[in-house]
Order: sequence, then structure tokens, then C-alpha cells
Amino acid sequence: NTICLNITKAAQFLADGAVNAYEAKVNDARKALEEGTCPGNDFLGWLHLPTSITPAFLQEIQDCANVLRDNCEAIVVAGIGGSYLGARAVIEALGNSFGWLVGDKKNPVILFAGNNIGEDYLSELTDYLKGKKFGVINISKSGTTTETALTFRLLKKQCEDQRGKEEARKVIVAVTDATKGAARAAATKEGYKTFVIPDNVGGRFSVLTPVGLLPIACAGFDITKLVGGAADMEKACGIDVPFSENPAALYAAVRNALYAEAGKKIEIMVNYQPKLHFFSEWWKQLYGESEGKDGKGIFPASCDFTTDLHSMGQWIQQGERTIYETVISVEEPNSHLLFPSDEENLDGLNFLAGKRVDEVNKMAELGTRLAHVDGGVPNIRISVPKLDEYYIGQLIYFFEIACGISGNVLGVNPFNQPGVEAYKKNMFALLDKPGYEADSKAIKERLAN
Ligand code: PA5
Repeated sequence: NTICLNITKAAQFLADGAVNAYEAKVNDARKALEEGTCPGNDFLGWLHLPTSITPAFLQEIQDCANVLRDNCEAIVVAGIGGSYLGARAVIEALGNSFGWLVGDKKNPVILFAGNNIGEDYLSELTDYLKGKKFGVINISKSGTTTETALTFRLLKKQCEDQRGKEEARKVIVAVTDATKGAARAAATKEGYKTFVIPDNVGGRFSVLTPVGLLPIACAGFDITKLVGGAADMEKACGIDVPFSENPAALYAAVRNALYAEAGKKIEIMVNYQPKLHFFSEWWKQLYGESEGKDGKGIFPASCDFTTDLHSMGQWIQQGERTIYETVISVEEPNSHLLFPSDEENLDGLNFLAGKRVDEVNKMAELGTRLAHVDGGVPNIRISVPKLDEYYIGQLIYFFEIACGISGNVLGVNPFNQPGVEAYKKNMFALLDKPGYEADSKAIKERLAN
């Protein structure tokens, strides 16, 4: 079984043959990835990652996760962007929606930090952790990202204060560059367990490295199945799979066609399962940071339905016709809940009695698809048999390889993010960071005028 892509209701908004017209470009892009001849070719370590991860390496990650699980009631995953979103996407998609309230005794609470500089957020986090046995996974490829480094400094101190240096050393893990950066230096000095983020894997393509796998294993999910799903998708999107049978090739083709031939500048990733909220966040980073450059790129947005049908639904139905939707549809929920019958039927809902909640959700989905297509919104649909590690693994690799192809078809380097530096430079100048003296002077003069 596999995830399934349906582009029929998107292609109908394009001229006949418009998707197939991208076949040559898509095949060239796929070949350039395979042969390492595309822009950013020093960042292709993700391409064959799923089929090259060994059971021994997965066991090493699991062993480390077990140490954290055995010794912590809470684990804080510190990281931002590609060093954050993949782990959260998978953990939220697979976990209990009320995990932090249910107080699951089998698994530690997984918390995320280092992804913002909110003083209240950090203060409330440190309050929550007071008196708790917690551990930290410090994830930063560069090892110098301000948000993460600042958070790690706070957490390291609190962990050492609460557990003592010896015990803290056992429950702090660094996932970072092999040699460079402050995170590596601290890990070496303190003797933390470390995992290396390979040089040739960029942050947003790193969920299947220890960046994602270690937190996911800590949360109690099966990383072997996750990687297995990705490995099967790697084969399904392989270089020898013809265009018409290759889901990643077709997705890359249809989105480029919608953008270039039909003026569809915004792609809305839609789910009907709130557990997928952070999967869309991961997807937005993957596509936004990869394609939005050189004055080009589809803007990746997301909605959780049916929730957002009561907010963004109006805009989608009748607003500017520059959007299309990509819906992730989960065929079979993991639970089974029936609507009860009610003798009085005051709410008039007895027509639903005995039906599964999911049946109503599916009719909402079908009704929305028809309404949005009628309203001029092309619809791409990806159906997923169920939310488990295996199919999430498939989805991850599908979107990664499609992103690599799509960015190359668009004519950008999908593996860099030069634009992210602009805010950092200004922030460091404003904070008088050593080495930024000239920038500090210039920015302050600019603000004074
Ligand atoms: O995709 C990327 O490369 C970025 O989003 C990075 O992951 C993010 O900026 C965090 O960087 P680092 O892991 O160096 O702290």
C-alpha cells in the first residue's frame, strides 16, 4: 500500500497536455539530482538517505533515546527551522492530541523550544520544568543559531542545577556539525553524547537524520518503520520510474504548470486531521525556503479543515483566484467513534446516529472539494491509508524529492537560503554583537533619521 496522488481536479484548470508538457523538464531535473549536476549539488545527502540508513545506526539512535526515556519525565527538543519542524510534524501526527494532559506514563513529555525568543514562552517553560527530571536534545547544524543557543544556555544551567552536572551529562544530547560551532564545542567539553548532521544534508531535508529520528524515538515512535516508509517512497520516485507513474514527478510538474501557466501563486496545504497541523508547517518550510528566491516561487500556505473553513473558507471560495489546494486525506482514522442516537433529538442530529465521526468528516471533505473546484480552486489530493510511521515516512520523502525536482524546474537552487541572513545581520548589529561594529553604526544612523 502506498500514498496516492490525484491531480485530475488540478489539471482540469490547465490546457490539455499542460502537465505532460513538463515531462522533459522534470526528467532533466530528476536526472540532475541523481547525477549531482544541479545547483546546490553539495546538499544532496538526503536523496538516497532512506535506503542507506543501516539498522546499526537506527539502533544507536534508539539506544540513546532509551537512556533519555528511562531518565526523563520531560525532554526538551531545542532547535529551529529544519532543526525543529520535522520532529514536531511527526510527533504531533502520530501522538495523542491531548498527550500533555493525558500524562502518558509510558512516554516522556516532549517539549519544543529554541524556535522563538518569546520571554514569556521561555519563562513559562522553565517554570514548568522546575523540580522535573528533564533532558535536552540540542539540535543545531551550525551550532550558532541565536534562538537555539540562547535557549540551550538556559536549559543546560537549569538541568545542571536540578540534577547535578554528572546526571545532566547523561541526559543532554547534541545533534550538530561534526567539528564546527558552539554546540559541538560545548558537547566536546562536557562529554555529551552527540550525533552528526551530515554536511551534505540541509536543515529542512534533515528529518530522517538524528535531527528528527532522535526526538521521534524519544517520543516512543518506531523510527525503523518511518525510515522504511521513506525508503519505499525513494524507490517509488526513483530515476527509472517513468514520469506518468512517478508521484513526485507529477506533483512537481502540476505545481509548476499551475504557477507558470495559470497564475496560481499560492499553494494551500490542507488537512482534515488537526494532528497534521505541524506536518503542514514542516512542508511550508521545505517549499518556502527552497523555492522562494530570485523573485520567484509559489507561496506555501496552510489551513486546517474544517476549522479554517470557518475563517479562511470565505477567501478560498470567493477571493482572488491565485490559489490552489493540496489536500492530505487520511483514509482510515486510528480510532472508531460513533454518533449516539438521542430520543429527544433536540439538536436534530439523529440523521447522523450510528455513523462514524469520520463519515461526516469525509463528506465535509468531499463537499469542500466540489465547492472549491466549482469556485475556481484547482485541487491536488494525496490520500494516505492511515497515520502511522510507515505512511508518514512515505509522505516525508515524497515531498522532499518533489521539492528538489520542483525547485530545479523553477530554475532556483532549492538547497540554499541566503535570504535568511538579512534579519540576523540587522539583529546582531542592533544588539551590538562583537564583529558587527560597522553594521551597528550604520543601522543606528539609519534609525535616527
Ligand atoms: O533549513 C534550514 O537550513 C534552516 O531552516 C535551518 O535548519 C535553521 O536555520 C536552523 O539552523 P541550525 O540547525 O544551523 O541551527
